[in-house]
Amino acid sequence: MPKKTTLPVWDLVASVIQHSRSTLLYGPPGTGKSHAAHNADRDGRPLFTVTMTPDTPAAELRGHYVPVGNEFQWRDGPAIRAWRQGGRLVINEIDHAGGDALSFLLACLDSPETACLTLPTGELVRPAAGFQAVATMNGDPDSDLPAALRDRFPVAVEINEAHPQGIAQLPHDLRAAASGSVVATDPSRRLTLRAWLAFASLRTAIGPEAAAQAVFRSRAADVLDALRIASGAGQAEAVPS
Ligand SMILES: Nc1ncnc2c1ncn2[C@@H]1O[C@H](COP(=O)(O)OP(=O)(O)O)[C@@H](O)[C@H]1O
Ligand SMILES: [Mg+2]
Repeated sequence: MPKKTTLPVWDLVASVIQHSRSTLLYGPPGTGKSHAAHNADRDGRPLFTVTMTPDTPAAELRGHYVPVGNEFQWRDGPAIRAWRQGGRLVINEIDHAGGDALSFLLACLDSPETACLTLPTGELVRPAAGFQAVATMNGDPDSDLPAALRDRFPVAVEINEAHPQGIAQLPHDLRAAASGSVVATDPSRRLTLRAWLAFASLRTAIGPEAAAQAVFRSRAADVLDALRIASGAGQAEAVPS
C-alpha cells in the first residue's frame, strides 16, 4: 500500500504550531487561521496578540514610556513581554506591517542565536526559551511579504479549507454550502465562515430571507436557492426507494 504523504491541513497546523519557533498561516479570510493561532496548544505559554495595520508603530509592539505622576515609566509592549516570558506572540495580518514596525518585526523574529534588542531604556533583551511567533495573513506570502520578513517564516502553511470545528458551529443544513464557499477559487464568490455564522444566528431570529439579505446582500437569492436545492436533494435521498 503506498505511504500516505499528506496530512489534513488543520492537523498539520496543530502539530507545526506546537513545535515550530515561527509559523505563518496564510490563505483566504474567515477560515480559522487566527482562531488556530490563538488556540492551538500553547504548552503553558502565555499568549500575546497584535493586529498589524499600515499605521501600527514599532512602539505598539516593543513598548513605550507612559506618564505616571511627574515622571515617565517604561511599559513593555506585547512583543517584548512575549520575549521575556517565553510566550506565544500572534501577529495577525502581518502583511500590513510597514515602516518601523516592519524593521522591529525583523529583529523580533530573528533566530534565537542572534535575536537581541536594546530598548529605549538602554536595557538589552533577548527572547527567553519557549518564545514563539504565529503570524496570519490573507494572500500569498511569496508575493506579498518583503523578502526579509518572508524569510523569517520557513514554516508557512497555506490554509485551503475552513477549520472543521468552525464548520461544526453551523447547523447541519449549512455545512456543505459553507465549506465550499469559504475557499471558493474565485474570490468574488467566497463567503466567509464569519458570514455563515452570522447568517445562522440571524436566521433563527428574523427568518432566512431577511438574514440572507442582511448577510449575503446581492448574493442572497443565489445562496437561498442553493440551500433549497441542497435540502431538496437531502430529502430526496431520505425517501426510501
Ligand atoms: N476551530 C474553530 N472552532 C470554532 N470556531 C471557529 C474555529 N475556527 C474559526 N472559527 C470561527 O470562524 C470565524 C473566523 O475565524 P478566524 O480565525 O477569525 O478566521 P481567519 O483568521 O482565517 O480570517 C470566527 O468567528 C471564529 O470564531
Ligand atoms: Mg484572522
